Amino acid sequence: MPKILFATSEAHPFIKTGGLADVAGALPIALQKLSCDIRIVLPAYGDVLKQYKSLKTIAEFYLPGTAGIIRIRATQLKRSKVKVLLVDYPAAFARKGNPYIDEHGEPWPDNAERFALFCKVIQLIALDQAKLDWKPDLIHCNDWHSALVPALLKQIPSAPPSLFTIHNLAYQGLFPQSTFNTLGLPSTLWAPHALEFHGQLSFIKGGLVFADRINTVSVQYAKEIQTPALGYGLEGLLQHRRHALSGIVNGIDDSAWNPQTDKLISQNYTSTTLSKKKINKLALQKLYKLPVDKNVLLLGFIGRLVEQKGIDLIIELLKSIRHLPIQFCLLGTGDKNYQQTLSHIAKQNPEQVSFNIGYSEKLAHQIEAGIDIFLMPSRFEPCGLNQLYSLRYGTVPIVHNVGGLADTVIDTTPETIKNNTATGFVFNQPTVIAIRQSINRALKIYSEPKTWKKLVQNGMKAEFTWDKSAKNYLHLYQEILKAHNTKQYSIDQNYKSNERIGY
Ligand code: ADP
Ligand code: GLC
Repeated sequence: MPKILFATSEAHPFIKTGGLADVAGALPIALQKLSCDIRIVLPAYGDVLKQYKSLKTIAEFYLPGTAGIIRIRATQLKRSKVKVLLVDYPAAFARKGNPYIDEHGEPWPDNAERFALFCKVIQLIALDQAKLDWKPDLIHCNDWHSALVPALLKQIPSAPPSLFTIHNLAYQGLFPQSTFNTLGLPSTLWAPHALEFHGQLSFIKGGLVFADRINTVSVQYAKEIQTPALGYGLEGLLQHRRHALSGIVNGIDDSAWNPQTDKLISQNYTSTTLSKKKINKLALQKLYKLPVDKNVLLLGFIGRLVEQKGIDLIIELLKSIRHLPIQFCLLGTGDKNYQQTLSHIAKQNPEQVSFNIGYSEKLAHQIEAGIDIFLMPSRFEPCGLNQLYSLRYGTVPIVHNVGGLADTVIDTTPETIKNNTATGFVFNQPTVIAIRQSINRALKIYSEPKTWKKLVQNGMKAEFTWDKSAKNYLHLYQEILKAHNTKQYSIDQNYKSNERIGY
């Protein structure tokens, strides 16, 4: 079975800002169950070191251009035997807070240096030069923070191949040319067919140009990024690489997100004990200081307060819901203006709107279990995990018809109700009018308890397990390795015959 090095800038429960952490904390476990020898490599951020005090140092080395020693500290992913290699270089990573931005919400000024260093260390591990006595067959990189790795590996003929997963093309790791000159990267990489992107250094191009294969986290998003609307100017490159590009939808970590066993919620329940879900609703209304009423339709949102998530649409909607029999509870952090506006709206309409600023894993579980509807009007969504958690928790998603949302939620129509496939409400235009229409459709079905129950149960039965997606990843790894070994074999044969001829 293949030896895989899984490179990521976040992984739950070590550090999490979004869905990448959920993926990195669960997919490797599912792959290990399929017999992969998989190790995760992650920066040793300050908050990680604080939580895991007695970490073993398993390697120490210097890198050209860095002043201090780099240490590889080892631990294991919770509830599994997946090894985690933490890249410990305090000057780059041992700072408190968010891995990417400072306390004012600005990117750390040395992000290019920090993640270039991370990539160089991954390169050393990939080449078995970090003294770990373990040489991976394939490097699986995720998002821009590890995207230089495929570019660095392609400079070395004997290096292992790589897979690059795009979790979000909107984040590319763009820096000025002057930064490229300071990173000590091969000068040949400064070219439009390499890391240069309109005069800037683009980390993500390292993955898009040089990885043996590329995938995104849903089939629909793999198509969307090949269009000008969602390709950010990279659509030409992605079209060019379309034969190497595919989509594999994310799954759910069953050990963390299961209403039957979830320890963070007030009352456990299943699809056959749905009346117990109401206990979570009442507890949530109390917690959120909303009028406690089991009959009112309770909507919710959890997420990063950024444009991607359609927060502006939610804000517009919330300004005009007084005549609707609904309540809304929100949890999120991000853009300060969005935070202020949402707090203001909640103050103006405390009977219907309640907003919690902050990041809370516990509250996220309580919301998923307590609400009736999860609203996800994302302008784009590579996969999205909250609609999957919602389905699992018997919470009906209302989603915009894009990316992973389009791939995972089935709209409620007379036909899908009849054939038991309806799982949510899908709208086509990212507008407040379209959201309202969906809410009205939801209110109508909510007033027919039998049909509503059917909808909820269909969603709870939908299969979004990591087991299924991990099999697709394993298949992709095997294809990459097969192609790589064939190529390597012919290079070796060529080399041998050239030797015989006497070159
Ligand atoms: P993205 O990765 O684009 O942020 P996803 O839907 O893939 O979106 O994943 C977001 C993950 O982060 C989910 O697990 C969600 O519950 C979690 N999350 C986002 N914001 C918060 C928050 N403020 N508190 C708790 N969990 C949050
Ligand atoms: C990104 C995307 C999100 C996806 C997550 C995990 O952050 O925005 O849609 O679910 O990565 O793949």
